[in-house]
Formats: sequence, structure tokens, C-alpha cells
Amino acid sequence: MAVSTDLPYVLVTGGTGFIGSHTVLVLLSQGFRVVVVDNLSNSCEEPLRRVEKLAGLREKLPFHRVDLTDKEGLRDVFRQYNISSVIHFAALKAVGESVKKPLAYYRNNVAGTLNLMDTMTEFSVKNIVFSSSATVYEAVYEGLPLREDNPLGCTSPYGRTKLFMETIIKDAVEAAEGWNAIMLRYFNPTGAHESGTMGEAPQQQFPNNLMPYVAQVAIGKLPEVHVFGSDYNTRDGTGVRDYIHVMDLAEAHVIALKRLTENHGYEIFNLGSGTGQTVLEMIRTMSEVCGRDIPYTIDPRRAGDIDTILCEPSKAAKELGFVVRRDLKQMCADLWRWQQTNPNGYE
Ligand code: NAD
Ligand code: WQD
Repeated sequence: MAVSTDLPYVLVTGGTGFIGSHTVLVLLSQGFRVVVVDNLSNSCEEPLRRVEKLAGLREKLPFHRVDLTDKEGLRDVFRQYNISSVIHFAALKAVGESVKKPLAYYRNNVAGTLNLMDTMTEFSVKNIVFSSSATVYEAVYEGLPLREDNPLGCTSPYGRTKLFMETIIKDAVEAAEGWNAIMLRYFNPTGAHESGTMGEAPQQQFPNNLMPYVAQVAIGKLPEVHVFGSDYNTRDGTGVRDYIHVMDLAEAHVIALKRLTENHGYEIFNLGSGTGQTVLEMIRTMSEVCGRDIPYTIDPRRAGDIDTILCEPSKAAKELGFVVRRDLKQMCADLWRWQQTNPNGYE
């Protein structure tokens, strides 16, 4: 595919990561010009090769291995490209690790975002879509899906970095003319590109999140799923979450990016389906899709977990025109295709 050389660039930070790489693909397929920066701390360059292939790019996708905490490195990228907007994914995201290494999380996520916002200001780039998370909501569940105006409050340093990053962006938007920013609060992303050539590639031996763990049990890399608690107040006693296909999420970013040009200032949108699945339902659906038994044991609850986290998706539906298009079966089928054809991720 040929992309017009007059177009300004969309800078995607964290664009070699799981959600970032899928978003880069959707951007390219809709004719956007993209430059990616990533420090490869939780990824590698290979997803970009897969993106190039899927998007039919004739030349290499511009990529710069830059750490957002390196302001000079970042400024160099802004000097080289005519950037009009930024989608900011780059962050450390492991909740448990953030409890052990809070300062590293604050430095990486918060200081990185400050550098990015400073550099955007210096180069008069005032459009940003930001990867936020349902984790910013106060962890009280009263049987209702979470709305964008629910009380905020985080239980981990990771969550607090997301809240601080949102706040930094909000204050910057309010302090100067011309900024447009959209915070996208995702619930539980999973799935993979339908080709099976792109997906989530956890770097650690034991994935933190449920679905990559389930996929690795399905392929035989791990012996069994540890289900964290079966005494929650839910239909089968296991935790309920709102899962969203990564390609739906990627498409939502491009919708948000286009909305930045409408000058709405600072906005927040939840991204989820509005329906929840228990851990056992997720295991069962994955098992049906791959036609294999997925062994599991019931373990004690994981510290910090709550019974149910559900998204209220109507604001995104009404104002962004975004609704999820891919169901749970498709999330599992696409995840399984990726896991089967790439048992060791991008290695
Ligand atoms: P990921 O780890 O696959 O992608 C993040 C990317 O950012 C990685 O490629 C990493 O190398 C890069 N990065 C980290 N720190 C950097 C720095 N200082 N400079 C440059 N690059 C840096 O994670 P993901 O699942 O794709 O998540 C993307 C974003 O979405 C993150 O901000 C995450 O907090 C947020 N989010 C993720 C989830 C989820 O469950 N996956 C849920 C809600 C929000
Ligand atoms: C889902 C359910 C677990 C693993 C996390 C972050 C959140 C956001 C998304 C970034 C829960 C259960 C899990 C396992 C299990 N990330 N589980 N065995 O905790 O909803 O959200 O990822 O912003 O901030 O906290 O997702 O996939 O870890 O857990 O039984 O091996 O699966 O108890 O009920 P979570 P998860």
C-alpha cells in the first residue's frame, strides 16, 4: 500500500507492544502515516515486520528505539517527522511488579509522560490519545457497571501512575489553548489479529493475566491454570471481568484519533463490552474453541482482586459510535490461532 507523502505522522509510543502494534496496523490500513517509538523493554521489533506484511507496506515502517525518559531522544524524533498527533501506549503495566518497584513505575510511566507532553508542547503537537485503564476506578462494586464519572482511586502503584498520567494530561489541556486529549480506559483486552500472525507475547515465564495463561496451558507450555478464588459473589464463584478483543480496541483508538480534530478538549471513554465472563467461563470457551481439555486448579484469591469489574460502554457508543464487534468465541479463536502458530510468541 502506498501512503501519501504529504500526510503528517501519527506518533505511536509503545507501538511494538500488544495493543500498540494492532493499532498501528489499523492506522496504516486506514491510510494514516505512522512513526513508532518504543524502548523494547517489553517487546521486540518483529511485530512491526508482521504489520508491514499485513498492511502491504512497500517500505519499512519508521521505528525509533527511544525511551520516553530520554527527552533528547524523543526531541530528535519530533525534529525528524512532521507529527500531528500522538497515541501514547508506552508504559510498564504489571500490577504486582509495580508494588515491588513503585519508583521504577513512577519514573517510567509518569516521567515518560511528562517528557512526552513537554516535547509535544515544544513542537506544537496538541493532540493525544492516551491508554488508560479501568484500574483507575475505585475498587468498590455495587452490582453496577463502571461509568466514566465513577469515583477514582487505585490500589496499586501501577494504577496510580495511570491516574497521574491522566491528570497531567488533563491539567495541560486546561492550561493552554488548542489541546485535544482522549483518555481511553480499557477493561480486559485479549484476542489477537485474525491472521494469527500478531498477538500478545508475554515476556515472563508465567503470564500475569488470565487469557495468555489459559492459552499457554492449552498449548501445553504450562501444566494447569490456577483459578484465583472460587468463593466470590458471582454466578460460579470465580471473578467476572469485561473482556474486549484487541482489534476492537485498536479500531477504537483510530476512531478517537479522528475525533481529536473536532476540538472537544479533554474527554474520557470506557472501552469494554458491558458484559462479563467468569474465569471458568473463559476457560470453558477457550477449551471448546481449541478442542482440548484445559486443566485447572482452584487456588486462594489473589491479593487485591475483587469479584466483578464491568464496563458501562454507552458513552463510547453514543459519542464515539464505538461498539464491540467481536464476541468471546472470536477472542478465543483468534488467541488460539496466534498461540498455535506462534507458540513462543515473536521469537
Ligand atoms: P505492552 O507492554 O505490550 O506495550 C507497552 C509498550 O511500551 C512495550 O512495547 C514497551 O516496550 C513500551 N515501553 C514501556 N516503557 C517505555 C518507555 N519508557 N519508553 C518507550 N517505550 C516504553 O502492553 P499493552 O498490553 O500493549 O499495553 C499498552 C498500554 O495499555 C499500556 O499503557 C497499558 O498500561 C495500557 N493498558 C493495558 C491493559 C492490558 O491489560 N493489556 C489494560 C488497560 C490498559
Ligand atoms: C482476570 C480474572 C483473576 C490470572 C488486570 C489489571 C488491570 C488491567 C487488566 C492494565 C481475575 C483471574 C487471573 C490467573 C486467575 N491492566 N485470574 N488466574 O486483574 O482483571 O486486570 O489486567 O491496565 O489493571 O489489574 O486481569 O487477567 O489478571 O485477571 O484466576 O492466572 O482472572 O483473579 O478474576 P485483571 P487478569
